[in-house]
Amino acid sequence: MNYSNELEVAKKAAEEASVIIRDYANKASFDVKLKGKNDLVTNADLSSEKKIIEIIQASFPKDEILAEESQTKTSIPDGRVWIIDPIDGTTNFAHTFPVYCVSIALWENKEPKVGLVLEVANDELFTAVKGEGAFLNGESIGISSNNDPSSSLIGTGFPYNNLDLVDNYLVLFKRMMEKTHGVRRPGSAAWDLCNVACGRFEGFYEYGLSPWDVAAGVLIIQEAGGIVTDWTGEDDWLFGQRIIAGNLSLQAFLQKEIEECFDDSQMKGKFEG
Ligand code: IPD
Ligand code: CA
Ligand code: CA
Repeated sequence: MNYSNELEVAKKAAEEASVIIRDYANKASFDVKLKGKNDLVTNADLSSEKKIIEIIQASFPKDEILAEESQTKTSIPDGRVWIIDPIDGTTNFAHTFPVYCVSIALWENKEPKVGLVLEVANDELFTAVKGEGAFLNGESIGISSNNDPSSSLIGTGFPYNNLDLVDNYLVLFKRMMEKTHGVRRPGSAAWDLCNVACGRFEGFYEYGLSPWDVAAGVLIIQEAGGIVTDWTGEDDWLFGQRIIAGNLSLQAFLQKEIEECFDDSQMKGKFEG
């Protein structure tokens, strides 16, 4: 199956959404609302999502959509589903911190086929089609070949509304500070995953993620030669809320560190919408 048309439509949708997002950013004229504790949404998120859905539905009217701001699904059906995050990094966007992305993925029969992450503030377009490699602004990318945690840069995210695991998370964070070159928290999980894909980060871990945060970035890592698992080393990362990514060595290193910092009941999660 050839997905070049789907990738082109995803690019068009992301480009048009980025024009909307930049316009809100340039005028600094967005309204910020709270969906829950520290869970922000702006009118730029809503306008971006509307435009992306409109463009995808114009080309693929029969496909299903799972989009953050209009989501109704807590699992995905067989068949074709577009998984959309209209702004990944809304907290950054709302504070004019320049890391925020559009993330668009096409899944078919529960497998990622097309992934696109456009980092709007710095104009970095990451793309991948299953079996065809991963690209940054059209140039082929690959994961880091550094297998040594002690000289690795690690990406993560900090939980902002579900603080149940924070004590354990801080123990893990201390270990990362002791055992690696450093830890970064840019504020967009989609972009974090792309930073693993292009070798800036050797590894990445986080919990509390939603399907639209990871649906595109994971394919981009896999096509760049990387490994993605949930915290137990299995593949329940789309709806399982917990993720580890990296090259083979760093995935194993991160999984071991996580296993030592969390008890069994904390190792698995379930997205509940
Ligand atoms: C958030 C970002 C952030 C991650 C949060 C996500 P949003 O997405 O990906 O890096 O730590 O868990 O919710 O809300 O900006 O789309
Ligand atoms: Ca997100
Ligand atoms: Ca979002």
